[in-house]
Amino acid sequence: MLGFVLFLVLSCNAAEDKAIPLVINTWKFTEATERAWEVLSASSNALNALVAGCSRCEELQCDGTVGPGSPDESGETTLDALIMDGENMNIGAVANLREIKNAIGVAKHVLLQTEHSLLSGSQATDFAVSMGFQKESLSTNQSKKMWENWRNSNCQPNFWRNVKPNPKSECGPYSPIKRNDINSCDKRMKYNFNNNNHDTIGMIVIDSHSHIYAGTSTNGAKFKIPGRVGDSPIPGAGAYAENGIGAAAATGDGDVMMRFLPSFTAVENLRNGMQPREAAKNAIDRILKYYPDFTGAVIVARYTGEFSAACAGMKKFPFSVRRNKQTNVQVIEIDCELSN
Ligand code: GLY
Repeated sequence: MLGFVLFLVLSCNAAEDKAIPLVINTWKFTEATERAWEVLSASSNALNALVAGCSRCEELQCDGTVGPGSPDESGETTLDALIMDGENMNIGAVANLREIKNAIGVAKHVLLQTEHSLLSGSQATDFAVSMGFQKESLSTNQSKKMWENWRNSNCQPNFWRNVKPNPKSECGPYSPIKRNDINSCDKRMKYNFNNNNHDTIGMIVIDSHSHIYAGTSTNGAKFKIPGRVGDSPIPGAGAYAENGIGAAAATGDGDVMMRFLPSFTAVENLRNGMQPREAAKNAIDRILKYYPDFTGAVIVARYTGEFSAACAGMKKFPFSVRRNKQTNVQVIEIDCELSN
């Protein structure tokens, strides 16, 4: 498989090109790109292509960050996923989905079978079962081991602050400290991004008629507090699409990103005349203004097929592309240091 993947390293200004149909997704998740492309080529159905691509990543448990196998504080894995249809601005999403492996598949049913946009938690599970999905554990041997190691390391890292006992050295249960003791300068924990701990597949599919779908699927942040929902299922945060303009999808520290709606911002930037690269960089820069240590990235595609990305907090950010007249999936890597 990897033998068919073309690998490019591009400087920050070079990653722009044109042509539809287009499949583009975050990270080196090339099997997802390829799967989406196969479905798009065979059917011209951009929705089915996006669902097939993201489902492939869920099956593969792409780098342990999509699909089953990423424990929260209680050891359970829960999933977030989103689909946005750029033709009618319809959305289907699931958040904190429990005991169902194919989150993006459930998001498709929310999109097509309901008037709602987002279902969450155990009731999203009930909905999925009613749509024919099987309820099963999302824990794996690896996630059980990860969780045991985390417990044995005093529950480090975790996402608590201003609680007792001290969350930087002890496990919970926690309770709030007195208001006067709250340290408002307490720095946000830095996301530990490496090859096996980054996140979200964010994907954009544009068919030959410029019909755009954007979507995401993730198991969120490792050792998150149960109930936590990240940016990925939130429209405008995890992904956004509008026919005639373009689309964007994000990856990274979702608790921060969802405060800035970077995907929406990037699409608005395209609407206002920016090139994809500038649109992506502006969306990231707005976050860096308030959170200079932020880690994440945004991919952006215009409806005509030009695309680019911007990133922060990592050395390099790779994304995967397959488009018209191209015989392979391309991995393009941008330099985040140059990009900031
Ligand atoms: N970006 C994925 C998450 O933070 O949940």
